[in-house]
Amino acid sequence: MNNLILIGFMGAGKTTAGKLLAREKKMRFLDTDERISSEQGREIRDIFAEDGEAYFRNLETELLERMQEDTAGAVISVGGGMPVRKRNRELLQSLGCVVYLSASKQTILGRVQGDKSRPLLSGDNLEKKVEQLLKDREAIYRLTAHVEVRTDGRSIHQVMKIIDQETRKYM
Ligand code: S3P
Repeated sequence: MNNLILIGFMGAGKTTAGKLLAREKKMRFLDTDERISSEQGREIRDIFAEDGEAYFRNLETELLERMQEDTAGAVISVGGGMPVRKRNRELLQSLGCVVYLSASKQTILGRVQGDKSRPLLSGDNLEKKVEQLLKDREAIYRLTAHVEVRTDGRSIHQVMKIIDQETRKYM
């Protein structure tokens, strides 16, 4: 399907770049976290706190499965943990062109500092948490994506332009 899917770590800029890109390309924009949160009628951090991470991960897979049926021609920004499940990787790839927005640990730390909305980064030792999760996930993101766009030192507008250029041959 001809969607453009943005994956990457928390703070990589998936939602912001995705919205800009969708506007530029006159495509619909969807964000899996926003969709899950609105369908559940509660914030992601409350889903984690009340029902646990596994419950949230099942909601993610179930949403991707529904998107196979009803989503085309959209820019889709997905939660940072989405590609960790093998089944989700297959579902993401079948939705369209997958773009990995990558960022260094330092860049991510600068962007997520003080953010209370992300349950996996709450509490002490933010740097250790980001380091460990990045180590666990970088290879997975690369395995899933058709294209990687580095975001370090680039404005969101520049990132959006590069995504547009790099994905034209896939669309
Ligand atoms: C998560 C990333 C979040 C959200 C949830 C879990 C993760 O989305 O889905 O807090 O596992 O990396 P963003 O990447 O949009 O912050």
